[in-house]
Parts: sequence; structure tokens; C-alpha cells
Amino acid sequence: MKDPYMNATATKLNTHGLDIDKIRSDFPVLAQEVHNRPLIYLDNAATTQKPRQVIDEITKYYTNYNSNIHRGVHHLSQEATRRYEAARHQIQKLVNSTRDIELIFTRGTTESINLVASTWGRANVKHGDEILITGMEHHSNIVPWQLLAQDSGAILKVVPITDDGEIDLEEYYKMLNRRTKIVSFVHVSNSLGTINPAKQIIDAAHEVGAVVLMDTAQSIQHIPVDVRELDVDFMAFSGHKIYGPTGIGVLYGKKDILAEMPPYQGGGDMIKSVTFEKTIYNDLPYRFEAGTPNIVGAIGLGEAITYVRKTGIDKIAAYEKELMEYGTEKLSAINGLKIIGTAKEKAGAISFVLDNIHPHDVGTLLDTQGIAVRTGHHCTEPVMRRFGIPATSRASFAFYNTKEEIDELAKALKKVINMFS
Ligand code: ALA
Repeated sequence: MKDPYMNATATKLNTHGLDIDKIRSDFPVLAQEVHNRPLIYLDNAATTQKPRQVIDEITKYYTNYNSNIHRGVHHLSQEATRRYEAARHQIQKLVNSTRDIELIFTRGTTESINLVASTWGRANVKHGDEILITGMEHHSNIVPWQLLAQDSGAILKVVPITDDGEIDLEEYYKMLNRRTKIVSFVHVSNSLGTINPAKQIIDAAHEVGAVVLMDTAQSIQHIPVDVRELDVDFMAFSGHKIYGPTGIGVLYGKKDILAEMPPYQGGGDMIKSVTFEKTIYNDLPYRFEAGTPNIVGAIGLGEAITYVRKTGIDKIAAYEKELMEYGTEKLSAINGLKIIGTAKEKAGAISFVLDNIHPHDVGTLLDTQGIAVRTGHHCTEPVMRRFGIPATSRASFAFYNTKEEIDELAKALKKVINMFS
């Protein structure tokens, strides 16, 4: 099927220098009908679609050089190893870390955070110490710290959020103290869309000697993130939210911190030598990559990041900002719709509720019109509680979305409201 949101007559660059038609043609999944309507995919915060370049690279791996890495002298193993490490290098370029060895492949953001909590955390956080998170964290940036607090006797503290869905910075500054061992915060909220002031949060934490972890699961695909400029200690993200495969993610850590951390899991690749008496652990980053890793996942992610870098993250950010502003204007104009999360700086997602209509009904009815959004608590139950609602509907964007698709969403929402009135 032809993609109706592609402009048939002209392939031209938009004001941000992006050829959206060309980009859409790279994502095969977009050109299909769902319930006899052209698909409008607005669930990008849950997972993004994959460009043909990523799909082809995955096929190429299994067709041409499927092999284990770091273990074989034969050609296939050498090729797989080369491409796995080339993927790590692509990530280094994207986040501007000093070295490739500061980037560890994990299963995703959740595993990256759990890794830090259970290795750095167990080694450094003691009874009476404080762990600071914010009121807008995803469950995966709450539960690992609760587990650490339970094990260590540390205290988990939560920085409140304002009615607009911003971190209350004054409260944050007051809560920081010499007992604060780690601050772990989300860069962009998955349920509110808020972009948090990362540099201010990190600098203030460093002033009291705390280490900082930044969850960039919802920012790395939307805005430039530079670990050196931010001076962040740890950073976590997932491959599938930046156009790569599921089951692969990244933990960035400053070399000096990673070098002191105890291992996460034991097994192959994380060792230098093993006797029954003693194991000598491998160098970074392999010390934290026990067992055969998700080789094809890493290679696919490398290809996705190559795609993003070729497109230009600055251009993506500028175009998506325009989409967010357009979407906010369109949705705000609908009677009976309330946007949840009205921070000044937002990216990626617009959450909303409709008067007297449950979000699950909204999601189901939009689906009948070919529109995919996510409904629910978005793994942020404390955020829902903060705003006194059980759930929201969430439209989340990627750089292949268009203003025409947002117009269709607005039209469909009005229809939903009419059905219920
Ligand atoms: N955390 C993902 C989301 O926000 C799954 O949808």
C-alpha cells in the first residue's frame, strides 16, 4: 500500500532540512492499513519503528556472518566482532563519551539502571545514606533503588513535581546534602514529556559529592545528549526507542567509576582467568558483559544510530519540536480534552485525558481509525497519583510523523467525544 502521508508530487527538504517523505519510505511498517485505515503510528515512546537499513543489517548478520564474538579466530567471528565493536563506536560518537570502553551493552534501560544499583550501589551506598530520585520516574528508575535501600538501610527520597509536571528545583536543592550518594533522574518524562534541566541537576548533585545517573530512554532519540558536556556519571538508554532492535541497550559510565565497580553477572567474556580459588575479571567494558551478548541487537542498534547521525539529531530535534508545538496547539483546542504535563520544555509525548471517557476507550476507538497511541499509567503510577488520575492517553512522536497525522488524530478525538456525548 502506498503511504498516504507521503507527498506524492515533491520530495523536498522541510525547513529543518529533512525530507520526511524519504524518511517515511525508509520505514516499511508505516505504509500499511490498520482496520482499513492508513496507519498513524503515535506510540513511539513505547517503541519506535525500524528503518530498512536496520532490518537489512539484521538479515545480513544471520545470512552472512552469524557467529560468536571475541572468541573465534575464524573469519565469521572476526567479522561479527568487528561489527559489534563498530556499533559501540557509533554510540560513542552519538553521546560523545571519551572512550568506547565507557559504553556497556545491556538488555535496555531497565537493566542498565539495575546494573548500577546492584554493583555501584551495593559497593557505595550504606546504612543512613540517601538516594534521590524524582516524582516523575518510570518504575524502572524507582524499584532498583527501593531494592538497594532495603538491602543497605539507605533512605530513598523523592523530589516533588509541580502542577505543570516540572521538577521542583528549589525543593531539589534543599534535599541535597552530604548523605546523598546518588541522584537518579529521568531526562525526558515518558508520561509527561517534560525535559528536565539536566545540567543544573547534575552540577548541584556534584557539589554535595553525589554521583548522578540519567535515564535517557525518552531523550536520546529526540534531542542531542553529550555526556561530556553534561558531566554525567552514568547514563542509560534502550535501543528499541532509537530505531534499533528490542533487547539491547546501553549503560554509559565514566571510566574511573566503572573501573572500581564490582562485576554484575559472572560468566564468559567478563573474565580474564578462572581457577576454582580465584577469578581475575576482564577489562572494561567486557567485565560487565557476561555471557554471549545480544550480538545482532548491538549491530542493529549501531545501524540505527548511524541512521540517526546521518539524518542529524539537531535536525530531528528541531522538526520534532515543531510537531510537539503543533500537536499541543491542536489538542488544546479540543473541548473536553486536558493535557497532563504542561512544562515549558517538552519532547516526544503529549499525555491527555478526555472528560468522562476512560483512556482505554479512547485508545480502542482511535485504533479502529488506524491510530496507535498508548493508554494506561505508562509505568509511572506515582505520576498518575500526583495528578489524581488513573491513566492517560499518550500520543508520542518520531521524526517520521507529520502534521497531517496530528490533524487526523485531532479529528478522531473529536469523533470519540461526540460518540460519548
Ligand atoms: N516505557 C515505555 C513507555 O513509556 C514502554 O511506553
